[in-house]
Amino acid sequence: MFKINENYQKLPGSYLFSTIAKKVTAYTQANPDKDLIRLGIGDVTQPLAPAVIEAMHKAVDEMGKAETFHGYAPDLGYEFLRNAIAEHDYKCRGCDISPDEIFVSDGAKSDSANIQEIFGPDNRIAVCDPVYPVYVDSNVMSGRTGVYDAKSETWSDVIYMPCTMENGFVPEFPKEAPDMIYLCLPNNPTGTTIPNAQLQGWVDYANKVGAVIIYDGAYEAYISEADVAHSIYECEGAKSCAIELKSYSKNAGFTGVRLGYTVVPKELKCNDVSLHGMWARRHGTKFNGAPYIVQRAGEATYSPEGKAQLKEQVAYYMKNAATIKNGLQDAGYTAFGGVNAPYIWLKTPDHMSSWDFFDYLLEKANVVGTPGSGFGPSGEGYFRLTAFGSFENTLAALERIKKL
Ligand SMILES: Cc1ncc(COP(=O)(O)O)c(C=O)c1O
Repeated sequence: MFKINENYQKLPGSYLFSTIAKKVTAYTQANPDKDLIRLGIGDVTQPLAPAVIEAMHKAVDEMGKAETFHGYAPDLGYEFLRNAIAEHDYKCRGCDISPDEIFVSDGAKSDSANIQEIFGPDNRIAVCDPVYPVYVDSNVMSGRTGVYDAKSETWSDVIYMPCTMENGFVPEFPKEAPDMIYLCLPNNPTGTTIPNAQLQGWVDYANKVGAVIIYDGAYEAYISEADVAHSIYECEGAKSCAIELKSYSKNAGFTGVRLGYTVVPKELKCNDVSLHGMWARRHGTKFNGAPYIVQRAGEATYSPEGKAQLKEQVAYYMKNAATIKNGLQDAGYTAFGGVNAPYIWLKTPDHMSSWDFFDYLLEKANVVGTPGSGFGPSGEGYFRLTAFGSFENTLAALERIKKL
């Protein structure tokens, strides 16, 4: 008889957003006349920028002619895209990252879930709490997290770094030295960032204790404050301890197009084994490349027109963020985030649990948000609203919330 990967059996419940979707479907089936406003899942709503569409059309036409047709992409991604990334995301910021340290992928979800594969099973992981659930879940699947305690909703072998109102949602160095540190900055769900000097502190810490930082910069485009780094490689010494993940989903609306990349610097080594070589081997074996059309679309995000159009798109969502935050504060809520990230993180009123507040908002205001507890135990008592809706829906949602 075949055997299954028992680690999957350890996963508590279904993925957060599947649970929300099930609840919302049940509610709409029971109340078909209600007009729901969805500010839950972090999916974008604005159409792709004209520069991106133009590049995709051109690439589609190329695919229709034998002379310009493209089959499998090169393992690391097309050079035109990796060169644009190295230039615009790194060199322009003073970071010395070369195109052959960049691995183009189909997005940061798969990369953030897959990267743990190149590390040993005994590594201790440290995660901010609350955070994007994929980091912990992917480590559960590979048996790195120990035993689950349903009461505290924690894993025995995971080091949680609580980020709450009390510490300004900023992680502190753990008492026990971890081997792998996941940092998501700006953070999903709290919207928190840390100043450059503090990020430098994390790089120094990782180099000192011999840990690797897996740095998820999916929301980098939303950073508005000057002293917040756009890449971990702005810190000295980061190339010997950090892997950076990036996505085109939130800065360019590619959630349905699918494109991202991972940077593994050649200096990053475990004794004398290069992680770059390992990730190249993994990528080459398990991934067959992002589509040519999509990589051309990614390249277009770096053209002058593309950059200007995306800046407008980010500004559009950040106007929603300000609308949500101000609206919530006017209604008496305590709200955070929304300055360097498209997420608003609010304290639930009257000590309501996150899921109770989810039901309350769904039933009384017909607004869908995300319960904070779904992002980790320290998210209990908090709730996330996203700025990715349309401006009209965002305004309408806030009007409804204010009337509660
Ligand atoms: C922190 C973080 N990383 C990665 C992702 C997924 O990005 P992608 O769409 O590129 O897979 C998300 C999506 O919400 C996210 O919040």
